[in-house]
Amino acid sequence: MENVIRNDPPSLSRRRLLNFLTGSAVAATVGPALYPVARFFIPPSEVSESGGILAKDISGIPIPASQILAEPPGTRALIAGLAGEPTYLTIQDDGSLSKIGIVDNCTHLGCTFPWNPAAQEFQCPCHGSLYAPDGSVLRGPAPLPLKIAHVAVEGEAIWLYPWSEIDPRTGKSPWWA
Ligand code: FES
Repeated sequence: MENVIRNDPPSLSRRRLLNFLTGSAVAATVGPALYPVARFFIPPSEVSESGGILAKDISGIPIPASQILAEPPGTRALIAGLAGEPTYLTIQDDGSLSKIGIVDNCTHLGCTFPWNPAAQEFQCPCHGSLYAPDGSVLRGPAPLPLKIAHVAVEGEAIWLYPWSEIDPRTGKSPWWA
């Protein structure tokens, strides 16, 4: 019988596996060495080490604090907040930003809603729920107060952080945490 050594090219799946293993080995070797270089060229993170994220506009561009703070007291400015949730930032009477952001997501069925400055209420157009300026329910069918988030201004950066402490409106653990 003829003793034939087959020298076929690896099958597609074998080739893929070899490519994957080679790529993984290169990444494991070179990745750590390039990390400091990459960090130098990447712009400052939009996510803080403590889980905060920068407030952004509808295009995903961070909003400078001066742009929001140029609005008159009483303004509710809608930004993209944690996990991209639309969130209202409030300009207080002293011109500063409230440290509490109010998530624009109705606790009934999730509609977004406008701020009505004349009535000083958030008014959900879907089924008529009304919320006070702090996001507590004034009228259902919304069953729960609006979700809130911490807001902190550092220079031009507006940071939002998850709210996991007691909800100041109910005195209880937040329903979303
Ligand atoms: S979704 Fe807001 S009242 Fe129903």
